[in-house]
Amino acid sequence: MSDRIDAKRRHLLQAIGAGLALAAAKPAFPVILKPGAFKGYKREATAAFAPDVEIELVAAPGRAQILPGPATRVWRYSARVVKGDPGAVIPLPDTYLGPILRFRTGQRVRITLHNRLPQRFITHWHGMHVPFEADGHPSYAIGPDESYVYEFTVENRAGTYWYHPHTNMITGAQAYAGLAGLIYVDDDEADQVPLPRGDYDVPLVLQDRTFDQGNQLRYDRRGPIGIIGFLGERILVNGRPDFTLDVASRSYRFRILNGSNSRIYKLAWSDGEPVTVIATDGGLLERPVTRPYLMIGPGERYELWRDFSKAKGSEVRLESLEYHGIMPPPYERMIAAGGGMGMMGGMGGMMGGMRGGRGMGGMGMMGGMMGRQEISGPAGMMGGIGPMMLMANHIPQGSRFTVARFRVTRKPETLDNQELPDKLRPLPRLRLEDVVNPDKPRPIAIGNHGRQFTLNGQAFSMTGALPIETFPVNTIHLMEIFHEHGPMEMEGEHGETAEHGGPSAMGGQGGGMAMAMMMAMVHPIHLHGHYFQIVRRQAPEAGGGHGSVEGYETVKDGFVDEGYQDTVLAMPGERIRLIKPFDKYKGLFLYHCHNLEHEDGEMMRNFKVV
Ligand code: C2O
Ligand code: CU
Ligand code: CU
Repeated sequence: MSDRIDAKRRHLLQAIGAGLALAAAKPAFPVILKPGAFKGYKREATAAFAPDVEIELVAAPGRAQILPGPATRVWRYSARVVKGDPGAVIPLPDTYLGPILRFRTGQRVRITLHNRLPQRFITHWHGMHVPFEADGHPSYAIGPDESYVYEFTVENRAGTYWYHPHTNMITGAQAYAGLAGLIYVDDDEADQVPLPRGDYDVPLVLQDRTFDQGNQLRYDRRGPIGIIGFLGERILVNGRPDFTLDVASRSYRFRILNGSNSRIYKLAWSDGEPVTVIATDGGLLERPVTRPYLMIGPGERYELWRDFSKAKGSEVRLESLEYHGIMPPPYERMIAAGGGMGMMGGMGGMMGGMRGGRGMGGMGMMGGMMGRQEISGPAGMMGGIGPMMLMANHIPQGSRFTVARFRVTRKPETLDNQELPDKLRPLPRLRLEDVVNPDKPRPIAIGNHGRQFTLNGQAFSMTGALPIETFPVNTIHLMEIFHEHGPMEMEGEHGETAEHGGPSAMGGQGGGMAMAMMMAMVHPIHLHGHYFQIVRRQAPEAGGGHGSVEGYETVKDGFVDEGYQDTVLAMPGERIRLIKPFDKYKGLFLYHCHNLEHEDGEMMRNFKVV
């Protein structure tokens, strides 16, 4: 590495005060693939690539004042523009979130990532359609003090995207420690749409966290958390607890990212105004749509339009409403029975049941797993707190809570773009006529082998792809997401065996309860590469054995399938058909569950574009 880069990096580190916090954490995971071993690995800029904008991005330990009292040790991104539009990096004050990276469609971008973390690391630009070598595939992870050069041309439509770690098996821990940031893409056509701008265009990044007594982050994905995902005790918006924003009595544009590891929000306004959605993952819709509430899973973005001049009262809350039927039945039963310590005991039993009654039993297994910390990083430093403790006071998935408060405190300075346009921008539909396989959708089968969630029957393999996961470049395919197990009954209490019939990759191994558990779970499925469009959604059927028909009723009015997406919540028992282009770039593009504990549990596979 050149002195030039080192000097720059030092400067940057001083700027964010990160030098102080380089703590003692040691990488606890072996580096499975030697950094740099993979073909195409980039340490150097390409001479022939002339970037319009060049950014230096650093991931490093730091501190953030999140709660009153001691600052919280976090890991965070910081960035600066080396060349081009200085507006390409917008720092966010008072948060551990990385700066907003702001690009224009057509721009050539070079980003040099410097890893100042004590473990291997790689970053992915979620939703951006970029070449394989610029996509942050985990095979490209770099070691401490190494750098990676990304080069790509921005092809996406204007919209809200984001960047986060994609390091094999530790993405959840790294993102949780604070590593995440938004990407805004603008284009000429979107610039013409009269939507709220400037101060009236506000990001809302939704996350949940658990803090210890000393204000430090707690995280552990062992035990039941590995199955249900991490759920925190506090909701943070833009990195802040009890988020309150003073707003003017006019319309706003809210760019919402669910940056939580596994929490799913059912968003609604407290004053009963319907939710007006203007954009999805892939940018603006053709026209605004309204919903009584909006379901948003991890990784997804939606943009809302809201007029506070119509607010009833001086405070409006964005709330997450109650819903059911998308978590393992024992979890739901325990939450219904009062949660807390009772739940923890119950979850122990559940885990015992999941092992099929053979091998380790519930609490014994938990106890056995509590001795050894396997996560390094800020969230793992305190040690000694087991996964069961992390479940003790969490806000249950599907319970009701306040996400953010908006206090209407002032008259607007301007009423520019105050009215909601009835047309936003054309959205060329992907059409069934254009797919090469209209009668035979490529599967994305959600399943499990015992405790291991699978996609198309497999766990992750770094470079592996099945024939059904291999696509010729520049083709458009019809795909179907579904749960692969046949119908089954779920009458037993936990620990008892449930019946299952129909075809199954499990062959009965692992026990019926494990399957009942895992089949009943929701999965936010994310596909890298070009965005897709949903063409059909089939609700779970009564007696189908997946999830619950009644539970589905509590979420089904919150889906927005009118736009382009890169992530979709697949409810238990649902079948989702989508059209996906595999264009332009060859290589390995991931698809995975964006419940980060599931992803780190290897619920991830490659699409191989050839
Ligand atoms: Cu947001 Cu493959 O990730
Ligand atoms: Cu992605
Ligand atoms: Cu999942």
